Amino acid sequence: MLYSDKVMDHFAHPRNVGEIPDADGVGTVGNAKCGDIMQMFLKIENDVIVDVKFKTFGCGAAVATSSMATELVKGATIEEALKLTNKAVMEALDGLPPVKVHCSVLAEQAIRAALSDYYRRQGIDPEPIVGKIEELDEHGEEEEE
Ligand code: FES
Repeated sequence: MLYSDKVMDHFAHPRNVGEIPDADGVGTVGNAKCGDIMQMFLKIENDVIVDVKFKTFGCGAAVATSSMATELVKGATIEEALKLTNKAVMEALDGLPPVKVHCSVLAEQAIRAALSDYYRRQGIDPEPIVGKIEELDEHGEEEEE
């Protein structure tokens, strides 16, 4: 069996799919090789992620990892969400085949991109806090620096 039951479950029944129209942070990331794109929406109150939704145009593992990532950060503080690694997402899904590891990286990056956007909207430079992220604009193109 290539995929764990948890991966199959989150692929077949992804949690928190959709958009948050009045989100406090939105991040879009993509993988240039496979062309998959992931978008995360965060609602943040008092440094806590009170709601999170995602849209993924990508493979099944990308859907499953973004779904699991939303579950892991929902109700978490920003600080906790910043510590979420792709490894933790994979572990929560009982593992991924090696060729699908990059899908979980996309999930980690999408959360970080949304947090960067959140800081930017507060007038705070996100890079020292969140690190450097390759973000896409809403059409999936890489943003000009
Ligand atoms: Fe690229 Fe899964 S194959 S995100």
